[in-house]
Formats: sequence, C-alpha cells, structure tokens
Amino acid sequence: MDAWRNYTDVYQNYADVYQNSIKVGWLCLFLIKYCIFASRKIETNNMSEELKLVKGAGKKETYESLLPQLEALITGETDLVANLGNIAAALKETFGWWWVGFYWVKNDELVLGPFQGPIACTRIKLGKGVCGTAWKDAKSLLVPDVNAFAGHIACSSSSVAEIVVPVFDKKQEVAGVLDVDTERYDVLDETDVLYLEKISRLITQTL
Ligand code: SME
Repeated sequence: MDAWRNYTDVYQNYADVYQNSIKVGWLCLFLIKYCIFASRKIETNNMSEELKLVKGAGKKETYESLLPQLEALITGETDLVANLGNIAAALKETFGWWWVGFYWVKNDELVLGPFQGPIACTRIKLGKGVCGTAWKDAKSLLVPDVNAFAGHIACSSSSVAEIVVPVFDKKQEVAGVLDVDTERYDVLDETDVLYLEKISRLITQTL
C-alpha cells in the first residue's frame, strides 16, 4: 500500500513539474513575442522621424528615395498642418531650396500655410502671381525666370525661379498649392515638377 502511495506521489510530482514547465514556456513565448513587437515599433518610429538621404545621388534618385519616406511620414496622420509642415521641412532639408511651403485655399484666396524659409506674403488672390495662376488654371507652373512671368509676386528679391504645383482634394478641386522658390536659375526643371506632383498626390490621400 505504501509503495503504491509513494508511486502515486512521485507521479503527481512529475505531473506538477510538467504542468509548471508548460506555464513557464508559454510565459517565455509571450515575453519573446512582446519584445519583438516592441523593438519593431521603436524601429518604425525612428524611421519615420529621420530622413535617410543618399549622399551624392542625382535628383531623380533622391526623389525616389524621398517619396516612400514622405508617404510613411504622413500616412495615417490626419492633421493637415502637421503633414504639410513635415513635407516642407523634408523638402528643404533634402534640396536646400530658398523657400518651400504651402498656400491653402480659404474662401476666395490663398493663405500662407506651413513653410520653410524667409517670411512670405500672407494672402494671394485667385489668378494673381504664380501661385494664384496655378490655382486658377488647376495646373503646375514651372517658371525658370520670375522676371519673365507677368504679375509674379516678389515675396523675396532673392527668389529668381519658381515651381508651383496644385494640391487637389478628393473631389479634384484645388485645396492648396505647393510653392518652391530658388535663388538660382539652373536648379528647377521638369523632373522637379514630375516628383512634386507625386508628392502633391500623396497629400491628396490624407485629405
Ligand atoms: N512668388 C509667388 C508668391 C509666393 S512667394 O514666392 C513665397 C507668386 O508669384 O505667386
């Protein structure tokens, strides 16, 4: 009888150890999964807050590496000022242009939005200057020499060339414009127009 009791006690001990091992195993698995999840989240956050630029890359290659980063930066963020501010900052950091920023449609005029560079004109009427014309015609304008553009609004005498690209809302109406100004004549070209329009379409997705 005693032998039988000893046998069942030993068996019970083994069963307890076995069950506890399974619980510890599940706990370890849970902790490992949590650590992987947490480290991925930290990685993602860091990626979206620091631009990774390829040194010495050409213009097209630079835009190609910038586009997915901008998309990651603004996707899922619904605050317009935050998104426009980050895009203006990213473009300024990447290309070092004199001025880059947004004018946004408010009632019957464009009002200065987030930008990087010197202070600028606050309000622009429909059809006025390069920005107002791009808004009225709902199309991009490349102005290689601002002196040759009748009605150009000179917010700064240092700016000599300009690109303005409309930003459309989901109903295909102009919601605002992206404006880039340089103090050199030989910087802006059709490649910039092409990629700035792609950036404009990224913004449309968030509107
Ligand atoms: N030059 C623009 C005005 C805006 S500033 O350049 C920032 C225009 O003619 O519409």
